[in-house]
Amino acid sequence: MKKVLLFFGLIGLACFVQAQDIKLNPPTRSGGKALMETLNERRSERTFVKKEMPVQMLSDLLWAANGFNRPDKRTAPTASNKQELELYVVLDDGAYFYDAKQNVLKLIAKENFKAALGQPNITDKAAVTIVIVADTGKTSSKFAYLDTGYISQNIYLYAASAGLGTVARASYNGAEVFKALQLKEKQEVTLVHPVGFLQ
Ligand SMILES: Cc1cc2nc3c(=O)[nH]c(=O)nc-3n(C[C@H](O)[C@H](O)[C@H](O)COP(=O)(O)O)c2cc1C
Repeated sequence: MKKVLLFFGLIGLACFVQAQDIKLNPPTRSGGKALMETLNERRSERTFVKKEMPVQMLSDLLWAANGFNRPDKRTAPTASNKQELELYVVLDDGAYFYDAKQNVLKLIAKENFKAALGQPNITDKAAVTIVIVADTGKTSSKFAYLDTGYISQNIYLYAASAGLGTVARASYNGAEVFKALQLKEKQEVTLVHPVGFLQ
């Protein structure tokens, strides 16, 4: 009897922990504005109207940024296919890891980390801030920063296509973001990308 109770107790605990994660929708993978129109509208935006981003839009944004578009490869290229870059997501209620394979945002901590991102005039009203993080154990810093540019451009293009605003931000306090996201020794923040609504 004790074993049965323990079994169901553990299952209950596992459900509770998973309930903190955000299950993303399957990405749309089609549609959007035509490429030339999207390029024409690509720009940096720093003033946002505060709104919550619907889960489908968040799913599409993250997939466009660095999701899997083939079983083992992604929308953004990496030198020698090292896939050293992962996305972290800061929402108003906490910080999450984007598990691109499982299509889930895994909770890191429920806390408002926006102050750690710096430039509050931009980040406070952003619906979401994507933090690009490199595993420097997989490749050199040089390639990690080069590869980051492709993800950044994917975010810019998705934003232009979806009528959202975004800006690449290199002016962040690396140590504070590192701590907020509970990063490990060989991980390095390479870019911060707030995304928000323009109206
Ligand atoms: C690597 C990189 C880092 C940037 N860092 C910042 C930043 O910290 N803060 C900011 O407001 N804009 C930042 N920007 C945005 C640039 O200022 C912007 O791209 C430039 O002014 C050109 O404007 P456009 O993107 O609208 O063409 C950054 C852009 C890049 C590519």
